[in-house]
Amino acid sequence: MPRAAITAVGHFLPETKMTNFDLEKLVDTNDEWIRTRTGIRERRILREPGKATAYMCSRAAQEILDQRGIDPEEIDLIIVATVTPDMLFPATACLVQHEIGATNAWGYDLSAACSGFLFALSAGARFIETGAHKKVLVIGADMMSSIMDYTDRTTCIIFGDGAGAVLLEPHEEHGLVDFVHKVDGSGGEHLRMDAGGSLHPASHETIDKKMHYLIQEGRQVFKFAVKGMSGVAAEVAKRNNLSGDDIKYLVPHQANLRIIDATANRVGIGRDKVMINIDRYGNTTSGTIPLCLYDWEAELRPGDNIILAAFGGGFTWGATYLTWAYDGSQVPGALERQQNTLEEA
Ligand code: COA
Repeated sequence: MPRAAITAVGHFLPETKMTNFDLEKLVDTNDEWIRTRTGIRERRILREPGKATAYMCSRAAQEILDQRGIDPEEIDLIIVATVTPDMLFPATACLVQHEIGATNAWGYDLSAACSGFLFALSAGARFIETGAHKKVLVIGADMMSSIMDYTDRTTCIIFGDGAGAVLLEPHEEHGLVDFVHKVDGSGGEHLRMDAGGSLHPASHETIDKKMHYLIQEGRQVFKFAVKGMSGVAAEVAKRNNLSGDDIKYLVPHQANLRIIDATANRVGIGRDKVMINIDRYGNTTSGTIPLCLYDWEAELRPGDNIILAAFGGGFTWGATYLTWAYDGSQVPGALERQQNTLEEA
């Protein structure tokens, strides 16, 4: 059975930056509080009329097609992880399929909040490993600004917009090795959006009560996130006999720098081996992990042991162990990206 390997990475980030200082003008907060409590300096916001999550996904997917010279007709499957689809249906994956001209692909959306990309990656990998497909696009994207209450200082400071995509292809040696995925629905109440689904369809009342915005009990989520994300990352490392020294990079969901640090500690690695870009993009929900891979691509070499880890609403959480399949420094533009990342860090 071949492995399912990540063989290309693409991204899209809106140009508009919303800094902590911009937020100071909207809510009672300050740059120092946000930086010390979360690690975030600024986030990107999509402010182009008529453009939303599917647009960001299509741009990320197109970057992969262009970079690798792949005909869109070669794509077999598109899985989009998101909690902010353009609409409830058609699925974002269908919109992306049409936009990029992937006329032979099927696809679907997967809703698992901040763990969405990891769960989608596992799903996509099975279609490669079984031989059903040769090219699967897995995209994590969210336009969190569309469900943010910019009068609620406890949530609007955290989230941003962005998309990351990876291509999965069969590989003889490298690719996804193992995963631990979990959900606990009893935590659902702590991080949710109440209206817009079948329980509370949009009405004047839901609008008046601000039920179309994300609600979070930050302290509760923080507690579960630290335990959950660090627990599964340590578990997947242990059962594959990986010590801190064996791991080239930990790629954590970018929710809060303190949660990231706790996870790195538990896995036994220092910050130099952790991909962190929360300072520049905030929490893009499904987008964080592929956006990290994009920024650090030039550092990655065949055989590198990588652990991805996430925690999100639901609750959902998981960790994935994979070995990297290609020399990222050979990808056009990757070294420049890495340089920018280092300079901005
Ligand atoms: N600016 C200034 N003060 C703020 C603030 C803001 N943006 N947001 C909250 N505060 C205040 C609170 O009102 C509280 O004041 P009080 O002590 O007078 O009641 C105080 O700061 C501490 O609030 P608390 O909620 O305990 O802060 P915290 O250290 O837990 O940080 C979060 C808040 C949201 C940053 C943190 O809980 C967190 O990151 N949680 C997890 C979020 C997450 O990961 N979500 C995505 C899931 S994947």
